[in-house]
Amino acid sequence: MNDGLDPTTRALRARAVTDGSLPTVTPLFQSAAFRTGSPYFYSRKDNPNVAELEAALAALEGCAHALAVTTGMAALAQVLGVLRPGDVLVCHHLMYGCSLKLFQQQVEERHVSLLVVDLADPAELARLPAAMRLVIFETPTNPFLRTVPIAAVAAAAKRANPAALVVVDGTWATPLFQQPLRHGADIVVHSATKFLSGHSDVMGGVICTERDDLGALFRERRFYHGANLDPHSAWLLCRSLKTFPLRMRAHQETTVRLAALLRGFAPVERVDLPEIDGRQLTGYGGIVFVQLREPWHGRYADFAAALTLFDTGTGMAAVTSTVAQPYSGSHASLCDAEKEAIGLNRGLVRLCFGLEDEKDLATDLTRAFAALA
Ligand SMILES: Cc1ncc(COP(=O)(O)O)c(C=O)c1O
Repeated sequence: MNDGLDPTTRALRARAVTDGSLPTVTPLFQSAAFRTGSPYFYSRKDNPNVAELEAALAALEGCAHALAVTTGMAALAQVLGVLRPGDVLVCHHLMYGCSLKLFQQQVEERHVSLLVVDLADPAELARLPAAMRLVIFETPTNPFLRTVPIAAVAAAAKRANPAALVVVDGTWATPLFQQPLRHGADIVVHSATKFLSGHSDVMGGVICTERDDLGALFRERRFYHGANLDPHSAWLLCRSLKTFPLRMRAHQETTVRLAALLRGFAPVERVDLPEIDGRQLTGYGGIVFVQLREPWHGRYADFAAALTLFDTGTGMAAVTSTVAQPYSGSHASLCDAEKEAIGLNRGLVRLCFGLEDEKDLATDLTRAFAALA
């Protein structure tokens, strides 16, 4: 769309069709079905709140089709639906543990094969097989926040098989800082449960594409699979998106300052942040990984317990800060050998900075590291 508006402005102004009462904010259409004559039909197919959310997401991602589904995992599962027996699914070796688990389960059920490679390695890109139907990767990656060159992967994938689909999980970069479709990806998926929601109070997933054939395919599948987002979650996500750019910029500022602070603590061997090249990734904020060195390597539990402003558990990418151990949490589904192969150990800590005052978070981190001494 060439209206000269910034995508964030367009997202803010997205409105679903209403009945002419012109409310400032679109109300919740908590209705399973719509009467004959309505532009809507049945909420498993479409719903005004879901449509408004999708318009806002399409504006942010800069694409023709954005489909809202129940969770980020559902978005990935829908995409895997294009696989046919004999196909090869290629994925990057650094991925969210449940995504890898889903791929491993699906290849068995669908009689396809899974190839786990380092997509940031040009030599591995040159060896992508012609039977590859899907190549899926996160950038930046969970864990370690490494970036994968989208354009290079897309070029290599199309060389190997012009019909291959390049799928980027852009959850952690968010569409504010990265738009993979501009760099050759065919599909972008997001866990909307993370920064797009930003409040840890709703689950959702998104499938984005510029291609009309894929948009129609996923829309039809979603209807028959019943994977669409419910109106209330869509309404909450629409509300969240209104402050999304503001939240992300605040997360970014805090992250830059606290990452510098973290590097100065004796137990910290490494702080992982993605490379912001200004082209593929134009910014980043919210989540960092901290590698603890010996003799503090095994002290995650003490560190987490000493923090008072960081909640433990699976929540992340929200207005309040969290701390987690990927080894026992997000990547618990990987076996020991898989964890070792990617260098994931008990000393890796995931910190998500919320919107608390940055000085308070700095004080809390300083106190917690002092407690480890
Ligand atoms: C990168 C990434 N993709 C997908 C998911 C799955 O999203 P959801 O929990 O909304 O199903 C997660 C969850 O943490 C994630 O980190």
